[in-house]
Amino acid sequence: DLSTKVAGLSLPNLLFNASGVCCQTEADLKLMIESESGSLITKSATYEYREGNPSPRYLPLPSGLGSINSMGLPNEGYEYYLNFAKNYDYSSKKPLFISLSGLSLADNVKMCEAFVAADLPCVLEVNFSCPNVPGKPQLGYDMEAMENALNVLAPLIKKPFGVKLPPYFDIAHFDTAAAIFNKFDNLVYVTCINSVGNGLAIDFETESALIKPKDGFGGLGGLMVLNTALANVNAFYRRLPGKQVIGVGGVTSGKEVFLHVLAGASAVQIGTTLKEEGPTVFARINKELTDIMIAKGYKSLDEFRGKVKTL
Ligand code: DHB
Repeated sequence: DLSTKVAGLSLPNLLFNASGVCCQTEADLKLMIESESGSLITKSATYEYREGNPSPRYLPLPSGLGSINSMGLPNEGYEYYLNFAKNYDYSSKKPLFISLSGLSLADNVKMCEAFVAADLPCVLEVNFSCPNVPGKPQLGYDMEAMENALNVLAPLIKKPFGVKLPPYFDIAHFDTAAAIFNKFDNLVYVTCINSVGNGLAIDFETESALIKPKDGFGGLGGLMVLNTALANVNAFYRRLPGKQVIGVGGVTSGKEVFLHVLAGASAVQIGTTLKEEGPTVFARINKELTDIMIAKGYKSLDEFRGKVKTL
């Protein structure tokens, strides 16, 4: 049984897409609906349509290490995703998550207000962690600005909502961020992690950066971020009692999903591997996780969620 609950909603299984992958257009989202994912989340929306950064802006890295991207928030504009949410079949058993990534607090307010007014059974996830828009630092690394944004957005959203976080690398940052999140009762989950921001991939032969935007700097994903992701999931799982964590980062098989749940994840998202393999990845990894649970004698995710042993 791979079922789980997030933000009060039931997911038939714990897997879905990492926001940004297979979720910009209705055609992408249809593939997610038809897949064996347990849920789906839309591409981070801005107030207006955005073309994003120049290509090449995403590339897989050699030998299964992961990927680098500097997409630059290409998206259809929030009204497109609001319209999708209005027409979504909520009886389908797959809950719908909507990612919002306004370029300013004022834009986030306007977008949240529009979703609140529509009064839909989807869950809002505010993205504090896009590393790829030139001149726009990640809110997740500015604790004061993040608390200020939550002071405005949490009462406005009223219903349970989540935030997408960048990876943190210092215990003091886990402590400070968690203390902020614990002030907001309707902030019911955090999604950890967004890409490890501003890596640089260089081709050995051509001696050139692999992607075009930002002199080649871009967010890293895939296997190389697994351990950073597990640490962030577990750090927030330990610090946010009564809230939930969605794990994302480094999933290539059922084994990494199992590790995310051991670290404390209530659901697990797939980014790089979904991009490379396509939506059939969900059927494969659900099967792999089921086999692992049978081999280990676990009947439900609850039996091992957060139960990582320490020495
Ligand atoms: C983009 C990347 C992110 O990591 C994110 O959270 C939002 C947008 C992007 O480059 O499109």
